[in-house]
Amino acid sequence: NTVESGNFQWSAPSNIALVKYWGKKENQIPANPSVSFTLNNCKTITKLAFAKKNISTAVHVTDNNFSFDLLFEGQPKEDFKPKIQKFLERIEIYLPFLKDYHFTIDTENTFPHSSGIASSASGMAALAMNLMSLEKALNPAMSEDYFYQKASLLARLGSGSACRSVKGQVVVWGNQANIPRSSDLFGVEFPHAIHTNFKNFQDTILLVDKGEKQVSSTVGHDLMHNHPFAERRFAQAHENLDALITIFESGDLDAFIKIVESEALTLHAMMMTSMPYFILMKPNTLQIINAIWKFRNETQIPVCFTLDAGANVHVLYPENVSEKVLQFIKDELVGYCQNGQYICDQIGNGAALV
Ligand code: PMV
Repeated sequence: NTVESGNFQWSAPSNIALVKYWGKKENQIPANPSVSFTLNNCKTITKLAFAKKNISTAVHVTDNNFSFDLLFEGQPKEDFKPKIQKFLERIEIYLPFLKDYHFTIDTENTFPHSSGIASSASGMAALAMNLMSLEKALNPAMSEDYFYQKASLLARLGSGSACRSVKGQVVVWGNQANIPRSSDLFGVEFPHAIHTNFKNFQDTILLVDKGEKQVSSTVGHDLMHNHPFAERRFAQAHENLDALITIFESGDLDAFIKIVESEALTLHAMMMTSMPYFILMKPNTLQIINAIWKFRNETQIPVCFTLDAGANVHVLYPENVSEKVLQFIKDELVGYCQNGQYICDQIGNGAALV
C-alpha cells in the first residue's frame, strides 16, 4: 500500500443503556441484548497520527508489542498503555496492517476525568473510528455501511458497550428476533419508528461519587457466570427490549419509565446477589431516586432515573419538560451531588470526524 503517514481525528460519545448489558461470553459476546441512548456532550476526542515503519525497523519487531505512544490531554500516559496493547492484540486479525505503523494516540475527554463517568465506551469507540479511517485509506472502495459496522465491531473488542457509541441515536447490540440485522458482534441503529416524545431526550448526570470504580466491568460481567438468577435475567432483557419496540413507537412514557427504572435496579440487584456481592449505590443515590419518585408523583412530569455500574444517577426526561426538571434538579438534587457537580447531556448522533 501507499499510505505512508498522516493523521485522523474522531470524536465519539458516551452512551447510556436503557436495557443493560451485564454478563458476557468469550470474545466480548454479550449474554443478552442491550439498547442505549447515544449521548451528545460527554465524549472522547482522539487524534491518531500514523507513520509507516521503514523495513529495517520493522524486521526488529519480533515481540508481540505494537509500536505506539499514548498521550492523555497532551501528556504521556503510561498507565493506559496495557489496555491499548491488549485492544490492538485483539483486533489485529481484523486490521493486519497494525504492526506496519508507528502510532501516536492523543486523546482527551470533554467531561472531567475522575467524574465517575466511564470513558471506556467513548474512548474505545473514538480509537476504533480512527483505525477504520486508516483502513479506509488503504481500501478506498469500502462502503459506508461496512465502515461503521466494522468500527462498531472493533470498538466492542475494546469495551463491550463501546460498540453502541459509533452511529445512531438509539443503538441495539445483541441478537434480538424482532430487531432485523441485530447482532452480537456490533451495534445497529434501532430500526423501528421512534415517537417524537423521545426527540432530544435529556440526560442530566448527577455526580454522586467520583471515586474510582469499586468493581471493574470485567469483574462485574464475570459475576454473572454461575449467578443464581442469570438465566432469568438474560431472558428478561429480551422481554424488556421487545417491550421497548412498542413503547418507542407509541411514545408511552409511563411504560418507558417502568422498563428503564426496573432495568437500572435489576442491574444493581444482580450485583447485590452475586458472589462476591457489591453495593455500588451510595446513600445519596437512594435519596435522589426517592426525590425523583416524589416529584413525579406530585407533578405527573415523566422524569425517571437510570444507573450505570456505580453511584451516579442519570436523570432522563423529554425536552418539553426540561425547564421544570432542571429547576427541580437545582432545588432538590444538586445537594446530593459531590461538590454539587452535574452534567447536562441529551441524545446525540454518534461518532464524528473532527
Ligand atoms: O462496556 P463495559 O464492559 O464497561 O460494560 C458496561 C456495562 C454497563 O454500563 C453497566 C451497562 C451497559 O449496558 O452499558
